[in-house]
Amino acid sequence: MSDDEVKNPEKPGRRYFLETVTGVVAGAGVCGAAWPFISSMNPSTDVLAKSTAEVDLGDIAVGEAKTVEWQGKPVFILHRTPEQIAEVRKSVDTKDPTPDEQRVQKPEWLVVVGLCTHLGCVPSRKDKGWFCPCHGSVYDNSGRILSGPAPKNLILPEYEFLTENRILIGKKEG
Ligand code: FES
Repeated sequence: MSDDEVKNPEKPGRRYFLETVTGVVAGAGVCGAAWPFISSMNPSTDVLAKSTAEVDLGDIAVGEAKTVEWQGKPVFILHRTPEQIAEVRKSVDTKDPTPDEQRVQKPEWLVVVGLCTHLGCVPSRKDKGWFCPCHGSVYDNSGRILSGPAPKNLILPEYEFLTENRILIGKKEG
């Protein structure tokens, strides 16, 4: 705590101000970084033509998340721990309440489009879910919106399990 804060604890000191400004600038920086990421993922013709993405889940350890690209968008795949599953199944007290059971095909695997439903930034991974640095939306480990301006849960892409450890995201043609 600075001298200013010790003398007047009611009034946040310079350090608080600097921390806040730094946080906002950092958030803007991350958000700014998110757009080039999206932009670099703007689908070229051959990517657009590829409407599906096959993903090997074998290298995603329990508790780890992986981001893959599908149709020019990031898709988050989370290999959930038993604790994370229990946590998201405890309550559906969220802004856009949907039971976790309706958001996954297998309890241990969450597959969601990694774009914030507010303005489309790419949220960052946190222990309890994802945090969007652009305007502070918080999502749980089911991809459900908990707080912040995002109106909806992270979108669920269409996918199917090809084998125990392999999924196909998108719709098979033909
Ligand atoms: S774009 Fe995510 S909170 Fe605004």
